[in-house]
Amino acid sequence: MITSLIPASPAAIDDDALHRIYAYPATDTPYVRFNFVAAADGAATSGGFSAGLGNEGDKRIFTVLRRLADVVLVGAGTIRAEGYEGELVDDAARTWRSAHGLAPHPAVAVISGSLNLDPSSGFFQRAPVRPVILTGTDAPAGRRAALEHVADVVDCGSDTVQASAVLAELGRRGLLKVLCEGGPAVLGSLTRAGAVDELCLSISPLLAGGDGPRISVGPSPEDAVPLALSSLLTEESALYTLYRRTP
Ligand SMILES: NC(=O)c1ccc[n+]([C@@H]2O[C@H](COP(=O)([O-])OP(=O)(O)OC[C@H]3O[C@@H](n4cnc5c(N)ncnc54)[C@H](OP(=O)(O)O)[C@@H]3O)[C@@H](O)[C@H]2O)c1
Repeated sequence: MITSLIPASPAAIDDDALHRIYAYPATDTPYVRFNFVAAADGAATSGGFSAGLGNEGDKRIFTVLRRLADVVLVGAGTIRAEGYEGELVDDAARTWRSAHGLAPHPAVAVISGSLNLDPSSGFFQRAPVRPVILTGTDAPAGRRAALEHVADVVDCGSDTVQASAVLAELGRRGLLKVLCEGGPAVLGSLTRAGAVDELCLSISPLLAGGDGPRISVGPSPEDAVPLALSSLLTEESALYTLYRRTP
């Protein structure tokens, strides 16, 4: 049973309450929410995956966040590590989304400079909507040509992908409720660019050990973004934080 610590309430948090807590603010430009799970010792992976870190409550919130999003944005490293094959939302979510004016399936967009992605993989072959790949003009031409058969490939920079161009492309497509599911390099890139509006961070009650990354890789201390806690939920010693960038 998920309950709320901030604001404090002993009542169980049902899905309607989760929808209210995690509702996107009204916006006419892309609003970027990141969702991560980390162990209490800061590890963002266990055995190379994030799946071992979450509990049932984390999965419920993960599901609700996808339900509310126009687009799921991920880095190529996360696709390579975790697959992302098939539908990202279930039947109930599609019904809910249609009733709330959203497309049945969220769009999916991948940031990749190298285009080292397999067009024959389940991610592309079983995608319910044509994926968008956000890359740079320096990306290898052969890989680009192969991926153009299975995805929209869009230039958002040259040697690296620029966050401002990514957000402009998503905005052009009307994809304003952005759910970025990582990974650490993408959070690092968007932090450096000042393009992170919100962080939903689940903290797992676990000393995971290992040598996995933190949730953000790359930015320097000058890029630090102050956050304010908007909501804090709990279940079975896990904490589910919702931080928003301070104005
Ligand atoms: N704990 C969690 O909640 C969570 C969430 C997501 C992922 N993860 C874990 O994180 C690990 C993957 O980490 P990661 O940092 O490699 O993942 P990532 O951030 O998903 O992907 C990194 C890749 O994204 C592309 N990229 C990111 N920023 C770019 C930019 N500005 N310009 C061009 N390309 C850019 C590059 O792709 P190319 O190499 O193709 O150029 C880069 O190698 C996996 O083990 C995964 O399980 C954990």
